[in-house]
Amino acid sequence: MILTVTPNTTIDLTIIIPSLTPNKTIRAVQSVYSMGGKPTDASWILGEIGIPSLALGFTSGATGDRAQTMLRARGVTTDFIPVGGETRINVVIMTQDNGSQTTLTTSTMVVEAAHVTALREKYAASLRGADCVILGGTLPSGMTPAFYADCIALANAHHVPTIFDAADANLRAGLDARPTFIKPNRDELATLLGREIQSMEDAYLAGREIVAQYGTQPIMTFGAEGALAVLRDRAYFIPPLSVPVVSPAGAGDAMLAGLAASFARRQPIEEGLKLGTAAAAAVCMLPGTADCRREDVERLLPQVELRPFPPKA
Ligand SMILES: Nc1ncnc2c1ncn2[C@@H]1O[C@H](COP(=O)(O)OP(=O)(O)OP(=O)(O)O)[C@@H](O)[C@H]1O
Ligand SMILES: [Mg+2]
Repeated sequence: MILTVTPNTTIDLTIIIPSLTPNKTIRAVQSVYSMGGKPTDASWILGEIGIPSLALGFTSGATGDRAQTMLRARGVTTDFIPVGGETRINVVIMTQDNGSQTTLTTSTMVVEAAHVTALREKYAASLRGADCVILGGTLPSGMTPAFYADCIALANAHHVPTIFDAADANLRAGLDARPTFIKPNRDELATLLGREIQSMEDAYLAGREIVAQYGTQPIMTFGAEGALAVLRDRAYFIPPLSVPVVSPAGAGDAMLAGLAASFARRQPIEEGLKLGTAAAAAVCMLPGTADCRREDVERLLPQVELRPFPPKA
C-alpha cells in the first residue's frame, strides 16, 4: 500500500477570470474545487488511475470533511486525525488576458503537540506493510520541520522508501534525514542550493551533489521545460509532453504519484517516471489542481521518453 502523509490538508478553489481588475466585481468564467496539499494530491491522482493509497494527516472542520469525502469517492482510504481550526481553502486565480496564475494561501488549521504524537503513532503503525511513503507540503502552525526528519528516519528504519516534496526549511530538515527521493521544482532547488539553476547541466551537477551528500535521488521538475531525474548510477532528461495546458497546478504532485505507483507495482523506477510524466501532462489539461482524467494518462503514457543524461556525444 502507498502511504501519503499530509499535515496541512487543503482544498483548492481555482477561479478563471477574464482579467484581474482591483475594486471591481469580477464574474468568473469557470470555478472548480479540487484537492490541494501535495501528498493528498498524489492520493487523489492515484485514485483516478485506480491505484489504492492510504491518506494520513490532519483535517479539520467542514472543509476537512469535504476533502475526505472527495478522496474516498476516488477509492482512497483515509485515516486523518481531527484537529482544531479548519482545513484550508486556497484560491488559485487564473486570468485569461495574460495567462497569469496567482495562488492565495491561508493558514487556518491549529495543531497541538498531542495531535502530532497521535499522527506519529498512526504513521509508525501504518509503515508496516507500506510499499512507500509520500510526504511533504507546508506545515500548519504548531509544527516544526523536525516532523519531516522524524517521519523520514522512521521510514528508513523500516526500510520503506520515501518520496519527499517540500520547500525551504522543511526541505532542508527532511533532506538531512536522507529520504529516498525529493522532487524540487526550479525555485525549490535554487533556494535549497543558494544558487540559480539555469540549464539542465546546472541541474545535473546539483543532482549529483545531492546524491553524493545525502544518498537522496532528486527528481527535479522544470515546468514546461521537462524534468531531470538524477538516480544513483544513471540520470534521465524527461521532455514534457505537448498538451493543451489549462493549469499546471498539481503537475509536480502527479510525478510523486507516478513514482509511488512503481513501488506499489514492484516496477523499475523508470516506469514510475513515465507514469508520473504522463499524469503531470494530464493534470495540465484540466483547470482544477491535481485534477486529471485516467483516459488522458493512459493515452499519453506511450509518448513519454526517458533520455539518458548527459546525452551521448
Ligand atoms: N506547461 C507544461 N507543459 C507540459 N508539461 C508540463 C507543463 N508544466 C508542467 N509540466 C509537466 O509537469 C512536471 C512537473 O511540473 P512543475 O515543475 O511545474 O511541478 P511543480 O512546480 O512541483 O508543480 P506543483 O507544485 O503545482 O505540483 C514537469 O516536469 C512536466 O513534465
Ligand atoms: Mg511542487
